[in-house]
Amino acid sequence: MKLLHIDSSALGANSASRELSAAIVARWQAQVPGLSIEYRDLDADPLPHLDGATLAGADTGAAAESERVLQQFLDADIVVLGAPMYNFSIPSTLKAWIDRIAVAGRTFRYTADGPEGLAGNKQVIVASARGGLHGDGPSDFQEPYLRFLFGFLGITGLQFVRAEGLGLSPQHRSEALAAARAAIAKPLAEAA
Ligand SMILES: Cc1cc2nc3c(=O)[nH]c(=O)nc-3n(C[C@H](O)[C@H](O)[C@H](O)COP(=O)(O)O)c2cc1C
Repeated sequence: MKLLHIDSSALGANSASRELSAAIVARWQAQVPGLSIEYRDLDADPLPHLDGATLAGADTGAAAESERVLQQFLDADIVVLGAPMYNFSIPSTLKAWIDRIAVAGRTFRYTADGPEGLAGNKQVIVASARGGLHGDGPSDFQEPYLRFLFGFLGITGLQFVRAEGLGLSPQHRSEALAAARAAIAKPLAEAA
């Protein structure tokens, strides 16, 4: 079994989503002997914005890297994503990764009956961290975006572990992180 672990926080060791995504991966590792894990830190090792030369294949090096990122996603049985809220959405580094994995004919296709996801054979678990309190309210363009995107790619096994209100006070932060850690300690299906 293959697990792909992606982090995108720019806050390094102070990152809540990094802490939570690592805890989710550790839980899978404890459960699945011989689990193969690949990791990409999109802050330390970012992908460039998707551009015309990459799309057209004119920049062969960039096109090859895009293909490698797509294949790594396709090969994964489990994807664990550290996804902070930045400006009500996701970090641009994570968006650049998504631009490599949402590819017509590979992870989705358009049919006469509408779009069809082609990447349904995997679970995606998102460690979501946000400074304010958004709940499922109208200021949240982070979790609904990821939910729609992965649904569009055919993924039904999508779960979120959320820690929010992290910027309100140190007490809020420690309580929110403790609740998220407790959710991860339970079977993740219950935590969703
Ligand atoms: C560039 C930037 C933009 C942010 N935008 C928002 C925002 O729109 N709403 C919010 O609630 N928190 C926002 N925050 C706070 C982060 O969501 C919060 O620090 C969270 O813990 C980030 O995840 P991390 O700890 O894994 O880096 C922002 C933080 C940064 C650095």
